Amino acid sequence: MLLLIFVYLTIFNHLVLGVNVSIPLVPLSSAPLITPSLVSFSIEQDRWTDWAGTTSRNQFFFNVLNNLNQLSGVPPRIRIGADSEDHTNFNPAVQFSEDVFPAITPTVPYPEASSIVVGDSYYESTQFLPPNTRVTWGLNLGQNNLTDAFLEARSIVKAFSSSAVKGAGIVLDSIEIGNEADLYKNNGARPTTFTSSQYVADWTKFATNISAVVGISSSSATRFWSGAFSGSSHSTTGFSPQAIISEGILSSAPGSAIATISQHHYSGSFCSGSEGLLQDLMEKSSIRANLSPFSPDITAVRAKGLDYVLGETNSYSCHGAPGVSNTAGAALWALDYVLFATQVGVSRVFFHEGVGYKYNLIQPITLTRSILDGSTLPTPIPAHIQPQYYAAIIAAESIGKSGNTHAAELSINNSQIAGYAFYDGAHLARAVFINSNAFLKSNTAARPSIHLDFGFTGSGSMAPTSFTIKRLNVGHADDTAGLTWGGQTYETSDGKVSGSLEVSNGKVVDGVDIQATEVVLLTFGG
Ligand SMILES: *[C@@H]1O[C@H](CO)[C@@H](O)[C@H](O)[C@H]1NC(C)=O
Ligand SMILES: *[C@@H]1O[C@H](CO)[C@@H](O)[C@H](O)[C@H]1NC(C)=O
Ligand SMILES: *[C@@H]1O[C@H](CO)[C@@H](O)[C@H](O)[C@H]1NC(C)=O
Ligand SMILES: *[C@@H]1O[C@H](CO)[C@@H](O)[C@H](O)[C@H]1NC(C)=O
Repeated sequence: MLLLIFVYLTIFNHLVLGVNVSIPLVPLSSAPLITPSLVSFSIEQDRWTDWAGTTSRNQFFFNVLNNLNQLSGVPPRIRIGADSEDHTNFNPAVQFSEDVFPAITPTVPYPEASSIVVGDSYYESTQFLPPNTRVTWGLNLGQNNLTDAFLEARSIVKAFSSSAVKGAGIVLDSIEIGNEADLYKNNGARPTTFTSSQYVADWTKFATNISAVVGISSSSATRFWSGAFSGSSHSTTGFSPQAIISEGILSSAPGSAIATISQHHYSGSFCSGSEGLLQDLMEKSSIRANLSPFSPDITAVRAKGLDYVLGETNSYSCHGAPGVSNTAGAALWALDYVLFATQVGVSRVFFHEGVGYKYNLIQPITLTRSILDGSTLPTPIPAHIQPQYYAAIIAAESIGKSGNTHAAELSINNSQIAGYAFYDGAHLARAVFINSNAFLKSNTAARPSIHLDFGFTGSGSMAPTSFTIKRLNVGHADDTAGLTWGGQTYETSDGKVSGSLEVSNGKVVDGVDIQATEVVLLTFGG
């Protein structure tokens, strides 16, 4: 009797929960080229030196960036800006920065500074990033004080001309002028009647001055990011890339030096978490519903030969929802989110981070109060990674170092399985699968699993017969620690990988099982 039940369950699992996956052997023309720095970071400007270091480097932050460098061959790009960008002033007498913070609340335990005054040494800390990092610095447009933006820009130029920064090959990739100007009419930075064409006028005035100070032109190494809006109307009415392009932002001399349009996006605004919310975030359909609406924007931007990035993004606003943004489930969300973003034409995704934010991939310094409610911690927690960091690792490893990797989403007829194939040149090299079914601590039933069977389409390349299997092991979707990737952990005091690598071998004909809340990376062999 027991035996019969076992047999029944096995058959049930394999027959009912089987999914066929067809993988093209060579990349279709629709498969975009993927940058090795796909996962990049946006850092809240107020506490920049906590990330980078002041008189010496923050070795933890350096190490966790360098892990990604080692896997994909280039360091992640860094944008320093966001809300506090529009509250930053320059004073040459200040060492590093002087910040004024609003009161701490349980909902926002680590608020953004309301005032940041910086001096030259603040920008000089850029030298502590990994060698060859490409950096975007944000300037204050919100306060409408050109002198201030000018002084910041002059100090940035000074820092990037220093032997420390130049010697490390660290490059000023871009300057962003203003953060989320579409919200200026709501936050008092401009009159309530502020329009996108007034933004174009303000931006052009500032950029004319800044381009002279920094030496930015349509052929310079440093270029402008523009846009950086919190949302998009997706049309020429209201704030959107289409609107500012039609209003002539690219036509002026500094406008011709815009190389990138940046868009900000959060998947929702929830200031308290719940299990249902975690499943909503992870849901394959909601990830697609969050990103697909930007398609017309991306088409309009690309038509002008410009790059399109998610210059500031993460799961939910309020710096993340507790028990959601800081969990293992959010790692699966982040992985599917960045990979799907490539499929709609996004070239790079900058995950927004601030010290103590719930949705961070990285906590760069010791924290003394809870990221969830601001209460004093019984023991301070040293710098550490959060679960979403594994998404950055898996993305970097899936893309690899070829510098010529194309990725294609696989069409999978299942609402909880997403899959992507990676091609090194024309060669099918790897595939990653994500099971976004949230297996929670509260789930008492057996953990569900889905069997994937593979078939190949197209010719020109021999179909592989075997693969190695590497798994992101997660206890529960709502766990906040204890994940392992191929048996290894990044939850270490120095942020470097630890433990011995565990991968298994499989045959293509046998397919592979993927549990609820699991990621599987297949590396194809002969
Ligand atoms: C998968 O493909 C096999 C062989 O073509 C077929 O027998 C099976 O029904 C398919 N399974 C599903 C779930 O579509
Ligand atoms: C930029 O603005 C500053 C402050 O108003 C001014 O001192 C400087 O001369 C301007 N530079 C250019 C090139 O317009
Ligand atoms: C503009 O910024 C400069 C430099 O920070 C400062 O000296 C000046 O007072 C500011 N102007 C206004 C109107 O706030
Ligand atoms: C997709 O799966 C559903 C069941 O979940 C099935 O009814 C449908 O036929 C499948 N479609 C294809 C194209 O296999």
